[in-house]
Amino acid sequence: MNAPLPADMLKQHLIDPEICIRCNTCEETCPVDAITHDGRNYVVDPAICNSCMACIPPCPTGSIDNWRLMLREEAYSLEDQFGWDELPREKKPPAEYQADPPPLQVPQHDAVPEVQAPASTASGSMVPPWSAAHPYVNLYAPKAPVAATVVGNYRVTDADMGSDVHHIVLDFGSLFFPVLEGQSLGILPPGVDAHGRAHFARQYSIASPRDGERPGYNNLSLTVKRVTEDYDGKPYAGVCSNYLCDLAKGDTVQVIGPFGSSFLMPNHARANLLMICTGTGSAPMRAMTEHCRRRIAQDVNGKLMLFFGARTRRELPYFGPLMKLPENFIDINLALSREPDQPKRYVQDAMRERAVDVAALLADENTYIYVCGLKGMEAGVLQALRDVAGAGWDALHAQLRAQGRLHVETY
Ligand code: FAD
Ligand code: A2P
Repeated sequence: MNAPLPADMLKQHLIDPEICIRCNTCEETCPVDAITHDGRNYVVDPAICNSCMACIPPCPTGSIDNWRLMLREEAYSLEDQFGWDELPREKKPPAEYQADPPPLQVPQHDAVPEVQAPASTASGSMVPPWSAAHPYVNLYAPKAPVAATVVGNYRVTDADMGSDVHHIVLDFGSLFFPVLEGQSLGILPPGVDAHGRAHFARQYSIASPRDGERPGYNNLSLTVKRVTEDYDGKPYAGVCSNYLCDLAKGDTVQVIGPFGSSFLMPNHARANLLMICTGTGSAPMRAMTEHCRRRIAQDVNGKLMLFFGARTRRELPYFGPLMKLPENFIDINLALSREPDQPKRYVQDAMRERAVDVAALLADENTYIYVCGLKGMEAGVLQALRDVAGAGWDALHAQLRAQGRLHVETY
């Protein structure tokens, strides 16, 4: 056990800016709102953080797990942390804390949980399905990325439409980069930002199954939307998405990861998948669906039901290949919001229309639910699940989260 700290000492919680991929998971998870960010760094407010450890398990990179033992009055301020490109060196604790009694322990991963790590975030699980295969994570960090070669890059939305989404295939040659459906990776865009600092990595879901975009090959695919405006609609060219969408065959990219140890598919026979996505949130659904499609002959799949939201049919990534999947393999429900002459429809509207079938899946203990795409959809989808499930939703929701049966990844 750690000795209690003297009142003037602090185990300051810090985030390593060199490893952090700015995925926002820690800020979303923190129960006391101690974590915040600016355009560059995620930081922890020493005046608020109570070392509850809730943010530690969900962090994909481990950048969250940094601690400094120091005098409380010398704690790094938010302004200090916003200015960092790397963590400062550890300061030596004052002499009176170095002698007898033994030096105070800075917390280690397994040494401190002062509270139990939660099995879920507010809406989804932080544990994988019980039968999920064990994932590899964090094999490559920003200081030692792996190089992958672009072997394919083509647009999967119609050329004359506003949404420019690309299917990008990366080959790892003989370098080890094992993935499972639902995992993601980080891309390090070349060059520097306005302050002359190297760009931080951006995270992308993997769109291909574990045995490769091409079965048996050491390659994988991504589904990347070119960012051409900011969230207020002002023209803005996203750094990494434009870099990726403009890559040519033969180019190399710097990759980190893989990331993700809970948004994984069940491995046991007859598990049902209820998949709800918008736009590029279709990437992990493509990976899972394709894994199931490749094993149709084994007759082990459960029911697959997909709700997929996009502006129009022509802006729905992978529309053509999706429509070719057999009806008895996957139950596909499109929700199009800007299709001319049609009322606006969101995935949650489509779910309510199929309430009887969604309710049947929810009632089945073998059903695993995946939600991925726009942050804005999360509340609406959860409300739709609540409406479909009826009075028992709160208990069912808690059970789904605890059992690794409800996974939410929005950005
Ligand atoms: P930046 O230069 O970083 O600029 C970001 C700014 O662009 C934002 O502040 C905002 O104003 C604006 N913006 C507009 N649209 C978006 C958007 N969709 N996402 C982020 N910022 C936007 N993206 C994919 O295309 N495919 C994926 O499969 C995918 N998976 C993700 C999985 C996770 C877990 C997370 C956290 C994010 C994922 N993203 C995915 C988003 C991706 O990581 C980048 O944030 C996105 O590509 C924008 O990066 P950028 O460098 O082009 O833009
Ligand atoms: P909208 O036409 O209102 O933008 P995008 O193309 O921006 O990635 O969005 C994918 C789809 O998600 C679009 O149809 C978009 O509709 C829809 N969408 C936007 N906000 C929400 C929301 N709050 N809930 C569900 N779907 C949404």
